Amino acid sequence: MDKRDKYGVLIDIGRRRGLFWPSYEIYGGVAGLYDYGHVGVAIKRSLMENWVKYFVDRRDGVIVELESPIITPRIVLQASGHEENFTDPITECTKCGRVFRADHLVEEQTGIHAEGMSMDQLWEVMKKHGVKCPVCGGELTKPKPALLLFKTEIGPYKGSPGYLRPETAQGMFVSFKQVLNTARNKLPLGIAQIGKVGRNEISPRQGLMRLREFTIMEIEFFFDPDKADEEVRKYLTKEILEYKVNVLTGVDKKKGVEEAKPYTIKELIDKRIVTSPWMAYWMAIGNKYLESLGIPSQKIRFDEKLPEEKAHYSLQTFDQEVHTEKYGWVEVAGYSYRTTYDLGRHMKYSGADLTVFRRYSEPRIVEKIKVYPNPSRIREIAGKDLSIVMKNLSKIPSEELVEKLEMQGYVEVEGYKLGKDAFYIKKVREKIHGEKFIPHVVEPSFGLERIFYVVLENSLVFEEDRTYLRLDKKLAPYHVAVYPLVTGSTGKPSMIAEKARLLARALRIAGLRVFYDEEGSIGRRYMRGDEIGIPYAVTVDYQTLEDSTVTIRDRDTRKQERVKIIELYGRLLELLGLAHDWKDIIQRYSLI
Ligand code: GLY
Repeated sequence: MDKRDKYGVLIDIGRRRGLFWPSYEIYGGVAGLYDYGHVGVAIKRSLMENWVKYFVDRRDGVIVELESPIITPRIVLQASGHEENFTDPITECTKCGRVFRADHLVEEQTGIHAEGMSMDQLWEVMKKHGVKCPVCGGELTKPKPALLLFKTEIGPYKGSPGYLRPETAQGMFVSFKQVLNTARNKLPLGIAQIGKVGRNEISPRQGLMRLREFTIMEIEFFFDPDKADEEVRKYLTKEILEYKVNVLTGVDKKKGVEEAKPYTIKELIDKRIVTSPWMAYWMAIGNKYLESLGIPSQKIRFDEKLPEEKAHYSLQTFDQEVHTEKYGWVEVAGYSYRTTYDLGRHMKYSGADLTVFRRYSEPRIVEKIKVYPNPSRIREIAGKDLSIVMKNLSKIPSEELVEKLEMQGYVEVEGYKLGKDAFYIKKVREKIHGEKFIPHVVEPSFGLERIFYVVLENSLVFEEDRTYLRLDKKLAPYHVAVYPLVTGSTGKPSMIAEKARLLARALRIAGLRVFYDEEGSIGRRYMRGDEIGIPYAVTVDYQTLEDSTVTIRDRDTRKQERVKIIELYGRLLELLGLAHDWKDIIQRYSLI
């Protein structure tokens, strides 16, 4: 195997060591679905826990979590615009019947960037460049949009239509008021959710990169647009303002520039490259997050989406991409300015009030026009229907009556046209204390399985005598491995193995994730642990029986130190970065 083919090596380790493999293989497999084995699950869980620590726990209570259902009533995804817009163009081979994503085929066969092209535009390019079926060379049909939502029925018999959610975001929009009222009662408020989503991709052919079922970790960050500049300032520390990220702007892309340029967060805001300062804040936090997973900054960039590349709900989107050996630049996260789009649409479709009250610093006096029905004139018009007309009129808000009288000169109730003379129109002065508004939303959204892959690819190290995962310690599937130096059924070897088993159990009871292995030579066991990224290996040996000490071996340097068993747990916490110096922390926050 070519030592430099990291993808191939990872696929091999993935299958051999229980990280991941294609699902349903005994039935021939299904494209875009993967199983994660015991090691893969452990790494994914570390990634999720770390994401919550980073994006929720470390944000001083501004972000709270939510878990909402995967099964979604149709109305929710009609309101969100997904039923109408969440489509990709498909084309079918007239000879072999295979179905393909038309824009991807065009890009592969012509090199022309086709994302966001209309069906007609794609068809023109396909005809002009003779795009054919990549499998049998047959003629292809004109592209048409295919809905990517997975359909289902809610209720087994005469159920109502539903979909699997394509993003967790709609759960946050629909429950926004509930979360606001119970969790924080003020803006800004971020709602975070980690969960599975389904997207019925057309013939996915990119392994772990394009999945039909995957995990999203996303935040809907709700804020008052009028106070954005003032409120974001509390979060934009000097360190964040000076922090640099690589950005390929839409303006540069249109000029044909292909390389991202470094910008400080301050520049992104001052030069109005971002349409909300909150976008820049979250891009900084997201970049730091990927760096904290061991991805170097030069391998990360933000790619601003052009209008035809953006999702229907977004005013501005930057994809955050990581450079990989296998796939080139891969999108691992998206930062979208969703404005009032989703809350506004859910208000319209559900009738619920999802606005927030903005209190003025001083009450304001405003002049308003109020209209009141004039019963004697209405009796002349409606006669015996007076009471029903009056009842229906009372249900129409005064603002709506004013608007109708202004716009069309009358209000129609029960078939009677009531002109201005059917109302008393008065100007009144009112003291108001605030106003209702729909919060704006910025969304940072991360694809867990893509982060999983880019972290693995980035951690894979080839050395002369071993291939191993230099995973960041906080992401490792196990904190520590325990190995008896020798094993046997009698005498000292058996005593050593028994002690090692008990030590593994003790470390598990103390809360560490422990890998235990007594098969084969100690050298091979070290290699096996290294291959799945276990940062430390504890070895029980002959000396342990004499003086109750063990060795700790460092995965990266292979150096060993000998410690007393009584000090082992404390030393491991220290090495793993799990032992915090409380005095140092309280000094940092001037608490002593
Ligand atoms: N909510 C982000 C996305 O659907 O990609």
